[in-house]
Amino acid sequence: MRLDGLHTTLLLALRPEGLPEIVHWGPRLPPGDTAALRDRAPARNLLDDDVAEASLFPTLGAGLFRTPALAVHRDGRDWSAAFGEVTPEANADGVLTIAAHDRVAGLRIVIKLALPPDGDVLTMRATLTNAGEASLTVEHLAAGTLRIPPEATELRTYGGRWAHEFTEARSALPDGALLLENRRGRTSHDRFPLLIASTPGCGEQDGAAWGVHLGWSGNHRMVADRLGDGSLLVSGGELLMPGEVTLAPGASLATPTLYAAWSNAGLAGLSRAFQAYARRHLLRLATPRPVTLNTWEGTNFAHDEARLMQEATAAAALGIERFVLDDGWMPGRDHERAGLGDWTADPRKYPNGLGPLARHVTGLGMQFGLWVEPEMANPDSIVLREHPDTALALAGRPLRLSRNQLVLDLNRTEVWLRVHAALDTLLREAPIAYLKWDMNRDLVAAGDAAGRPASRAQVLATYAMLDRLQTDHPALEIESCASGGARADWGVLARTQRVWTSDCTDALERLRIQRGAARLLPPETMGAHVSDSPNHQTGRRHTLAFRAGVALLYHFGIELDPLTLDDAEREELAGWIALHKRLRPLLHAGLHVAGDPIDGRTLTGVVAPDADHAVYLVAQEADPARPHPAPLRLPGLRADAQYRLRIPAPQRPDGKISATHHALYAEGVVIAGGILAHAGLTPPPLQPETAIILELHREP
Ligand code: GLA
Repeated sequence: MRLDGLHTTLLLALRPEGLPEIVHWGPRLPPGDTAALRDRAPARNLLDDDVAEASLFPTLGAGLFRTPALAVHRDGRDWSAAFGEVTPEANADGVLTIAAHDRVAGLRIVIKLALPPDGDVLTMRATLTNAGEASLTVEHLAAGTLRIPPEATELRTYGGRWAHEFTEARSALPDGALLLENRRGRTSHDRFPLLIASTPGCGEQDGAAWGVHLGWSGNHRMVADRLGDGSLLVSGGELLMPGEVTLAPGASLATPTLYAAWSNAGLAGLSRAFQAYARRHLLRLATPRPVTLNTWEGTNFAHDEARLMQEATAAAALGIERFVLDDGWMPGRDHERAGLGDWTADPRKYPNGLGPLARHVTGLGMQFGLWVEPEMANPDSIVLREHPDTALALAGRPLRLSRNQLVLDLNRTEVWLRVHAALDTLLREAPIAYLKWDMNRDLVAAGDAAGRPASRAQVLATYAMLDRLQTDHPALEIESCASGGARADWGVLARTQRVWTSDCTDALERLRIQRGAARLLPPETMGAHVSDSPNHQTGRRHTLAFRAGVALLYHFGIELDPLTLDDAEREELAGWIALHKRLRPLLHAGLHVAGDPIDGRTLTGVVAPDADHAVYLVAQEADPARPHPAPLRLPGLRADAQYRLRIPAPQRPDGKISATHHALYAEGVVIAGGILAHAGLTPPPLQPETAIILELHREP
């Protein structure tokens, strides 16, 4: 049994008993008989019958000792699953459905695998049915398991903290397992559900990499476990709290989707595979992505309707296309301690509601967007005063505040309906095209009214609300924000249009954050804003060119009060906005490329599918140790084509540069793609924490 993608093959072998074994996941294989591949002798001092360790669905009852895909029991019995009666069914669109039974334990499993032939992302999900006569407790159900060959000795994980997300950490995995568990009730800042295994020393362009991501916005468990032949078994699934899922006879549990990609073109190749899949199969985006002003860093809670109108007018003059009113518009919301949960405008700040500001914004030709945090409320809010005891909590335990707020129990129909009605009313009463949907705290011991764990149901209730609002308001776009990038997985991205990549808008930090996020996320989904200098989070000072250049490739916007800019800054910023608008058809549809860091300098770019047009961001992060910059090699171009290379306006020459560099700022320089890729050109010297944007067009 096999599935073939563009460059990838997943080869499975049916076993005389038990679920299929994963024989190969990697480069596309030619057609041919593979029956002999896995026929091996039993190892000494192990089970007498050889057992396929690389099972698609490892369970202890099948004699498999690594992390099981399933942990269930019926009051302490039926805990050792072993499946048989396997019936695989393939369809022509690259979908393989494998069903199996365990008659002894009363279980039925259906594993669905898909590898669309137009790409290299494999999807997996499992559905478990209780085929027994008593209820079944489910402690774990993996969405999928994959085998990665033994040459993958490095693992990359993505984490950090608030305002420091997507930090890539590399480690070698000895014998044993790496376990990545998240219990925060949201995807989290510190344990993003993405694991990348690679050949040693895998770089941006060279080496083989296998990436596995769980599309789920709650608790998760990702595991990489070494097998007896040195290969890695990687799995991902929800992390369930004790007693969180009990299946009545006949009832089923379906997992979220596990997404997996392979590339032998390095980490950037892996990104291209993930990004292409997201664009084709996951996202629903109207293009182009509107340049956005978000009021948070510029205005904070100090909303003044008249000034916001002036800000909007100034924003429109800069070329902004979407004006998003952030936190601070609700009754009493002058700080983090009150007003959250009351989705009406504060009459002190907006005597006639949000309508006048929204209509002012739309009258200027921009979309109006609004910040909300629907899953939450402050104890000091009308909603929690009128409906106390509607927070997720356990009776007898203290309520634990975070950012002075509680999580509403959306599993209660009346709570869900109340929140939904408030949002629906907002959307009907003012011309709101966009919601910045925030989620600013972890869930602690989240229990429902009956005292049962409710984290997973909370995620599903939130998904249901996102889906319902977009069905009823088809033009509505939603941004997924969770104190920055703590909910940026593909589960939420399937029902939103963008993520707020991080609350850190410091351009130097953003380079690292965006690099990690782009392993999985297409650039057009990653919010990236030019903010004030000194930066609000780090206090660092950066030129406007650095701040704008670093944000340029993504869903571009600004996070400052435009009324505070002087004339020169306004002109320069308008130039960057115009540049982004000119380039975004390429930036948001092209192929991601990157170079390995050299002397503190990093390279990220986007190349058109036909390689006629390309843009690169060259950033000097650390102070270079060498007196001269290393040649700059540009990947992704057509070797035999001639390109005109330029540094487009509003960038201006700065410092001591050569005649060639002056030409780059003017008419450009013509060089063959193959020469740029292999020999490279000497770039202008760059100070630390500065960057340049390069643009190339193929010569006619
Ligand atoms: C979170 C978000 C910010 C901003 C504030 C408002 O921190 O990540 O972008 O919206 O909330 O309170």
